Amino acid sequence: MKRNPTQLFLWLLVFLSDVVPFSNEKSLRERAIELMQDTRVIDGHNDFVLRLRMFYQNRLSKVNLRELNRTHTNLKKLQAGYVGAQFWSVYVLCSAQNKDAVRLTLEQIDVVKRMCNSYKELELVTTSQGILDSRKIACLIGVEGGHSIDSSLATLRMYYDLGVRYLTLTHSCNTPWSESSSKGMHSFYPNVAGLTAFGQEVVKEMNRLGMLIDLSHTSHSTAKAALRISKAPVIFSHSSAFAVCNHARNVPDDILQQLVNHFDHIKKIAGPESIGIGSDYDGVEHFPEGLEDVSKYPSLIGELLRRGWNETELKGVLRENFLRVFREVEKVRDSGLMDVGEREIPQEEVQNSCRLDLNNYRLQTVASFGFPSVVQSFSLTLVIIVYVILYYES
Ligand SMILES: *[C@@H]1O[C@H](CO)[C@@H](O)[C@H](O)[C@H]1NC(C)=O
Ligand SMILES: *[C@@H]1O[C@H](CO)[C@@H](O)[C@H](O)[C@H]1NC(C)=O
Repeated sequence: MKRNPTQLFLWLLVFLSDVVPFSNEKSLRERAIELMQDTRVIDGHNDFVLRLRMFYQNRLSKVNLRELNRTHTNLKKLQAGYVGAQFWSVYVLCSAQNKDAVRLTLEQIDVVKRMCNSYKELELVTTSQGILDSRKIACLIGVEGGHSIDSSLATLRMYYDLGVRYLTLTHSCNTPWSESSSKGMHSFYPNVAGLTAFGQEVVKEMNRLGMLIDLSHTSHSTAKAALRISKAPVIFSHSSAFAVCNHARNVPDDILQQLVNHFDHIKKIAGPESIGIGSDYDGVEHFPEGLEDVSKYPSLIGELLRRGWNETELKGVLRENFLRVFREVEKVRDSGLMDVGEREIPQEEVQNSCRLDLNNYRLQTVASFGFPSVVQSFSLTLVIIVYVILYYES
């Protein structure tokens, strides 16, 4: 398959900058909106659901998502921004790794499902065709951080069954099998480099399932390893171009100008067909004037029009590029050539007090439950006797 880095499907998130003084702002905006009415945005990354947990403990009954003002995201703003599909990030903090990351992730999936099932503006979808068919705002689910699978392919598969369609291989912490780009933020697994043998199995299993591989937050060597192994194209759900801004988490001041520089740069290096939008709204504090929330996408598209991007290119950025990649990922899944991944991570790579080593536990469990085994067989006998008595009396 394609190994050329220019085939990377790059997403731009970013912090934006000051609104550029448009010479003919109105007509550009009108042109942008005209385009977006037919070609609504697919946004690859939004952290709103974590805000629901932090502000409301996921109690949807306590909030009106149509008008919520404490967040960058609400339903009216999504509609005003011509958002046609939204990947909701079900992110849990790295500090939950080896603790309750799986439970927390499930709770975040639960709240996305409840949210998308209870508002008529929203609709859960799990396929590229589902995005195309939806007349509402299509909801998709992405797990942001490999720590959420607790080094388990079975857990990964169950997330897929629940509707998860991408996994970001790391967040800001290493996992036992993948290396993050953030050094020194967390002390987990400092010796892991790139993808371990188990990490490679994760990538293969994602190919088999039809789950998009997201490389935002991963180290260069993790990204390179994933690209080498993956049979399907990958995404960076919310990253920008290192060459333009070598620290993606700073300089909120020089803004929209900078963001569109990222677009131009990636267009030059990787081609316009490699670019999509992954906003990270509600994931960072500061967005530039003019792009403060999810309603502001027309300003971005207006700026790209001003810079000479044509309609074909912009339709790609808005949704076609993502759909193409998603279809490719589904095609690899449908080829059905791969066996279910049954590999387990070696116990010594995940040793921690929260993990039971069942392989060395078998003999003990036979005589367990805290009862001597003779009591257990005695209880069983009693149950059988009672059953026989009931049978004859009835
Ligand atoms: C949200 O903000 C708008 C505009 O600032 C304001 O008119 C409205 O009352 C606010 N709504 C809520 C629910 O706070
Ligand atoms: C838009 O630009 C691309 C190059 O990025 C070019 O191939 C295409 O023909 C252009 N389309 C139109 C409609 O001008």
